[in-house]
Amino acid sequence: MSSKTSSQQYEEAMPVFESFRRIKRLRLFEPSVGVAGFLLATAFVTCCFFYLDYREIGGRFGLLSQRSQQKSGSAGEKAGDNRVEFLGEKGGRCDLFQGNWVWDESYPLYESRDCNFVDGGFRCSENGRHDLFYTKWRWQPKDCNLPRFNATMMLEKLRNKRVVFAGDSIGRNQWESLLCMLSSEVPNKESIYEVNGNPITKHKGFLVFRFKDFNCTVEYYRAPFLVVQSRPPKGTSEKISTTLKLDQVDWNSWKWRDADVLVLNTGHWWNYEKTIRGGCYFQEGVEVKLEMKVEDAYNKSMETILKWIQNTVDPRKTQVFFRTYAPVHFRGGDWRQGGSCHLETLPELDSSMSLVSNDSRSQFNIANSVFSSHTNTSEVLKFKVLNVTQMTAQRKDGHSPIYYLGPDAGTAALHRQDCSHWCLPGVPDTWNELLYALFLKQETSSH
Ligand SMILES: *[C@@H]1O[C@H](CO)[C@@H](O)[C@H](O)[C@H]1NC(C)=O
Ligand SMILES: *[C@@H]1O[C@H](CO)[C@@H](O)[C@H](O)[C@H]1NC(C)=O
Ligand SMILES: *[C@@H]1O[C@H](CO)[C@@H](O)[C@H](O)[C@H]1NC(C)=O
Ligand SMILES: *[C@@H]1O[C@H](CO)[C@@H](O)[C@H](O)[C@H]1NC(C)=O
Ligand SMILES: *[C@@H]1O[C@H](CO)[C@@H](O)[C@H](O)[C@H]1NC(C)=O
Ligand SMILES: *[C@@H]1O[C@H](CO)[C@@H](O)[C@H](O)[C@H]1NC(C)=O
Repeated sequence: MSSKTSSQQYEEAMPVFESFRRIKRLRLFEPSVGVAGFLLATAFVTCCFFYLDYREIGGRFGLLSQRSQQKSGSAGEKAGDNRVEFLGEKGGRCDLFQGNWVWDESYPLYESRDCNFVDGGFRCSENGRHDLFYTKWRWQPKDCNLPRFNATMMLEKLRNKRVVFAGDSIGRNQWESLLCMLSSEVPNKESIYEVNGNPITKHKGFLVFRFKDFNCTVEYYRAPFLVVQSRPPKGTSEKISTTLKLDQVDWNSWKWRDADVLVLNTGHWWNYEKTIRGGCYFQEGVEVKLEMKVEDAYNKSMETILKWIQNTVDPRKTQVFFRTYAPVHFRGGDWRQGGSCHLETLPELDSSMSLVSNDSRSQFNIANSVFSSHTNTSEVLKFKVLNVTQMTAQRKDGHSPIYYLGPDAGTAALHRQDCSHWCLPGVPDTWNELLYALFLKQETSSH
């Protein structure tokens, strides 16, 4: 990506360089600086326009979709006929990840104020986000119906079991969503607790929540790269502060291996900013590869993870899921460069569009090519892909742009938006509904 000289300039981070850097970064992602400049210059005015417009469309849309729902309720048995139940006998071949977002008044599945297990950063409505459309969309696969999420059912199936999430903070986002979904039907909230007494807001290496009445734990391990990050070998250059060992899975992986359900993800940290720029280089064996590009390193680490699953995990005990990249939606810049999404109140409903933004595309392509190179062989994969990238790309409305500072802290500055994490309740609930469906499918087919 950027040359070393410019990265040193970045380090100095003077205001002059900030804007230089902004333009320079935009050049990486935008088709042309001209377009980017235009976007930036008119962002505010344009966005105000969109905001008003969207609200109006949104209002109309709400009405429209309710009407069309009623219509399909009465005359719509036909459409229903084509769709089998995913959990039914004929549902097995349905691709859950092809479909549409549909308006559903029965959502959300819980309210964040009723759930103790959400970081302040994800409590958008409590943090001042007033539009709530983003909580009302249900994922409807094209060829089948998903089971409605039933927390009691899932907890019963999880009795004496462990669910483990390992990955980056988007994985944590999903983990907290599942804690809320599961706890929503547990009357005695005291019966759910972190086994070491750690509060959820504390960013520990790992957190283990026990559902006492079910002797079940739902755990999160922070491992943004999934492979080992450690000190460099002795005697290497001083500019190397850490290395990622592309051929070794994270130190904690021995705790993941015996989980009953394991949900992995990685992607958001595989970029220049979060690696080489901070002195984090890539290592294979004892050798540090100073010249290796981030994309190649990501590709190699994905191979390592796949191999680890294939060689280490017992598929009779552990259901492994790999959740694919969840796209970001910064418009007009990166997260520290004034990129925004705070005026988005509706999803992109046209699923035929290719919506994975350029910022997210290389991660998407690499992971996808690793998966498809394996699915295309005779090798029997011991994991399922939670292929959420495309459906999630449609949900530019689901982020926590300026509503991540926590209740009572007000909203964040407009130039410091978070368009990568997700409000809860929200989009990660859908990933978990898909997880639920696939988990139940496996449970019923193996008994
Ligand atoms: C993404 O990049 C492609 C070319 O690589 C370009 O055609 C497209 O317009 C870009 N999209 C956005 C949203 O910047
Ligand atoms: C959820 O599952 C439980 C246990 O299997 C069952 O008793 C209950 O009726 C289900 N709830 C709904 C709303 O289907
Ligand atoms: C609780 O679950 C663990 C597995 O996670 C199992 O080893 C243990 O025997 C269970 N305890 C009881 C009392 O069933
Ligand atoms: C990933 O690495 C494999 C070789 O291990 C290579 O064939 C493939 O082209 C690489 N994919 C990408 C997207 O770089
Ligand atoms: C998958 O295999 C088929 C036939 O073996 C081949 O035609 C196709 O190009 C392969 N696709 C990929 C993505 O490797
Ligand atoms: C995931 O879905 C996309 C389309 O949304 C498809 O192109 C890709 O091949 C799928 N990947 C896997 C591993 O199923």
